[in-house]
Amino acid sequence: MGKLERLDAHRARMEAWLRNCFLEREPRGNLYDAMRYSLLAGGKRLRPVLTLEACRLCGGDVEAALPFAGAVEMVHTYSLIHDDLPCMDDDDLRRGRPTNHKVYGEATAVLAGDGLLTAAFEAMLAPGQALPPERIVLAAGILARAAGGAGMVGGQILDMAGEERALTLAEVEELQRLKTGALITAALEMGWAVAGGTEEQREALRRYGAALGLAFQIQDDILDVVGDEAALGKPIGSDARSGKTTFVTLKGVDGCRALVARLTEQAAEALAPFGGEGAELRALAESLADRQT
Ligand code: IPE
Ligand code: IPE
Ligand code: MG
Ligand code: MG
Ligand code: MG
Repeated sequence: MGKLERLDAHRARMEAWLRNCFLEREPRGNLYDAMRYSLLAGGKRLRPVLTLEACRLCGGDVEAALPFAGAVEMVHTYSLIHDDLPCMDDDDLRRGRPTNHKVYGEATAVLAGDGLLTAAFEAMLAPGQALPPERIVLAAGILARAAGGAGMVGGQILDMAGEERALTLAEVEELQRLKTGALITAALEMGWAVAGGTEEQREALRRYGAALGLAFQIQDDILDVVGDEAALGKPIGSDARSGKTTFVTLKGVDGCRALVARLTEQAAEALAPFGGEGAELRALAESLADRQT
């Protein structure tokens, strides 16, 4: 199997798993429609692919990792729904569609986000999983920490504070590490936890995730300036409109491109302990470095 083919196969498995979510639930107004609207709107599925591939790389059962990969994607999707709200980035387009609150209204969008966050933990802690309980607890704990104040939510509050005043490079680095890096690293570590990997493998995945996460958010900031809205599926110029300090404000587009290239090399180097088996994650980092979407 080719390198990116294996990742495509993970993505296809994830899509199929996500498509089945919430179908059996008793309707609650349009809550589940709103949750599925954003969850199934496409998206690159980067984080769940990282979970599934990290699990494979550490010798685990990819099938058993699906609820955990799905959980990361649910948390990520909830973060996007809330990120787009008028009280936050106030954006109207996401994943090529009108944002959740534009379709369902703000109250339902808030609740759809809450519902996805909670469903993530329900999926990971569902009875009958073919995994030792300690691996389940470890993986769920990794996601909990990365999603909250010590991770994504903590980064989002720093990001909002950045609309009020200019931030330093160190502050922008810290906020990006939290708002984007934490969930990306957690996605990898969850795959490791499900597989029951070694400490050396965890450390390598953490270092890969830290470099990849930062490169990914810097590229996101670049695309907010020079991207194509139709291809990207979300508005460009959003950061400038809200007066945010980003890597682009501080380093310029060319400076940022150089940083992304350097971080991508660092990500690839971090995979050394995996030898040739790390080829997929290396190829993924390289493909993200010049992504246009
Ligand atoms: C967008 O994430 C928000 C960031 C953390 C940069 P993605 O670029 O992964 O969005 P989707 O999942 O593909 O829509
Ligand atoms: C958001 O960062 C990161 C999240 C935790 C949702 P951005 O605000 O830059 O993400 P986009 O550009 O709207 O996707
Ligand atoms: Mg934002
Ligand atoms: Mg945003
Ligand atoms: Mg952005």
